Amino acid sequence: MKKQWFLAGAACLAILVSFAFVHARGVDETTVSAGEAESVEMAVALADDPSFDDPIEFPHNVHAGATDDGGYGIDCMYCHSSAERSSSAGIPPVASCMGCHSAVRADGSEEIERLTEFWDAREPIPWNRVYKVADHVQFPHMRHVSAGVDCAMCHGNVEEMGVIEQVQQPLTMGWCLDCHMEMSASRDCTVCHY
Ligand code: HEC
Ligand code: HEC
Ligand code: HEC
Ligand code: HEC
Ligand code: HEC
Repeated sequence: MKKQWFLAGAACLAILVSFAFVHARGVDETTVSAGEAESVEMAVALADDPSFDDPIEFPHNVHAGATDDGGYGIDCMYCHSSAERSSSAGIPPVASCMGCHSAVRADGSEEIERLTEFWDAREPIPWNRVYKVADHVQFPHMRHVSAGVDCAMCHGNVEEMGVIEQVQQPLTMGWCLDCHMEMSASRDCTVCHY
């Protein structure tokens, strides 16, 4: 119960603080969403470099874990809302982290210090990309979300993961087609290939 209240408060604070920050810095919303696009691109660019570690250890379990499991129960869609309306699920921009973290453990955590450095430098965080299909394939998140396919069917129980790891999904054509057959989705070549 305490956590629910905390979260409701944090969500309000998030909106207020990100507003205040955006305006204090004289940056309009267009710049922020450009930053969002940029951070996704940057993640893609680094996808093939296995030696690269995330610059910040982002714990999914702390944020999205069930409240009776020590987490804060933040909905996946709070951070990956574009999964509902576009192909990409998206990675949240630094501004949405700072909505909470300018107040939550702003002092005393090395990880939050690094987060604040990215914010101060107005740089997107170069997250390592975990899931990536071949370039000649298109994968529309919104079609799967609207058909009621749960995130966990493809990404496992992310809310229980510390640093995110890829579950044993090969992302091969056979994997896609098996489920499409099972769920009576299209197997027409042109829906997945340009
Ligand atoms: C507070 C924001 C936040 C919440 C809530 C959140 N995520 Fe994330 N998610 C991120 C960030 C930041 C990254 C990039 C860093 C990383 O890979 O750990 C990410 C990465 C991912 C990735 C890997 C993307 C890739 O290919 O690199 C998946 C899959 C994912 N999230 C699924 C989920 C699911 C499912 C939920 C709900 C159970 C969820 N996320 C909740 C912020 C969030
Ligand atoms: C809705 C509020 C909220 C948002 C948004 C949010 N966080 Fe958090 N985050 C928390 C809370 C609460 C904790 C737990 C703090 C504690 O342990 O006292 C936390 C913990 C963390 C930690 C662990 C800190 C440590 O040293 O133990 C990291 C790293 C982190 N968040 C990064 C991020 C990043 C990166 C984003 C943006 C993608 C983000 N957070 C967005 C609320 C939020
Ligand atoms: C049917 C399988 C499937 C489902 C369901 C699914 N994803 Fe994904 N996800 C993928 C694949 C495949 C990729 C790689 C896409 C690419 O390379 O274009 C991916 C990539 C991602 C990424 C990396 C950024 C991006 O958009 O490419 C995030 C974040 C993510 N998924 C989060 C989620 C969340 C949150 C949900 C639930 C709302 C979800 N996914 C549901 C298969 C799935
Ligand atoms: C866990 C099951 C599952 C997996 C795995 C899966 N899909 Fe799907 N897919 C679905 C369902 C269900 C639909 C929605 C069908 C509908 O809307 O009628 C769908 C729809 C689609 C569509 C839209 C089809 C149309 O009719 O326009 C595309 C494109 C697609 N998936 C690509 C992929 C690709 C590429 C992969 C593998 C990387 C994949 N899917 C993996 C279940 C899955
Ligand atoms: C549901 C989505 C989906 C459908 C439908 C689909 N494919 Fe694919 N296809 C994929 C994915 C995902 C890959 C990438 C596999 C990988 O990277 O291992 C792929 C790879 C391929 C490749 C390259 C093989 C390789 O080794 O990389 C060819 C050729 C191909 N598909 C042809 C077809 C043809 C022809 C059809 C129609 C009969 C078809 N595909 C239907 C998802 C699909």
